[in-house]
Amino acid sequence: MQDRHKITNQNTVWHEPHIRRADREKLNQHKSSILWFTGLSGSGKSTLANAVEHYLHKQGARTYVLDGDNIRKGLCQDLGFSDEDRTENIRRIGEVSKLMLDAGIIVLTAFISPFIKDRKIVRDLVPTGDFIEILCDAPLEICEERDPKGLYKKARAGQIQEFTGISSPYERPGNPEILLETGAKSIDECIVQLLDYMKKHGVLDKNK
Ligand code: ADX
Repeated sequence: MQDRHKITNQNTVWHEPHIRRADREKLNQHKSSILWFTGLSGSGKSTLANAVEHYLHKQGARTYVLDGDNIRKGLCQDLGFSDEDRTENIRRIGEVSKLMLDAGIIVLTAFISPFIKDRKIVRDLVPTGDFIEILCDAPLEICEERDPKGLYKKARAGQIQEFTGISSPYERPGNPEILLETGAKSIDECIVQLLDYMKKHGVLDKNK
């Protein structure tokens, strides 16, 4: 695993595409971007990403949700929850998101993505302004009380190791583009806040 992505591709040559991101954005009539939801398990990442996608889709936008639980059943099924595997998980998602960005899509990602350095790597992969970090900021006590998948209970009982917030760290973003108080606010309030941001920052601009 360690060396897999260290192999340098000395014998490959970048092939410049004929159709560029700007052409795709023009066709779609909106900019592409990465809406990167981060936060504890149970903090509302997937719920919000899917709700926002629903809204955008109805507006005619090209969107796609990448969700931790789903991606870990396919692309990242070989990865666990050690620090190293989480880093590789986020690296792959970052690369996939970058491709989707280039494909003209508004990509919404819902991953705990607990490490500042890993999120920064993704941010730095794409042009400035295209990575929008969204902290779903619900306190651990609330996530644990909600426990929608029953995982906190198992983690407390020692049946799951390296569980974020219990036996594995979560590093909060210092300065996210959007901070959603998902522990205190309703889903609808958070959606309004998100859409406001997107409108103000031209993410939904027509006739790009
Ligand atoms: S990440 O840390 O690598 O970003 P990711 O978002 O892909 O994690 O997956 C998190 C999801 O996996 C959680 O929502 C939860 O359903 C499940 N899960 C299973 N084991 C763990 C664990 N040890 N820590 C956190 N989440 C876990």
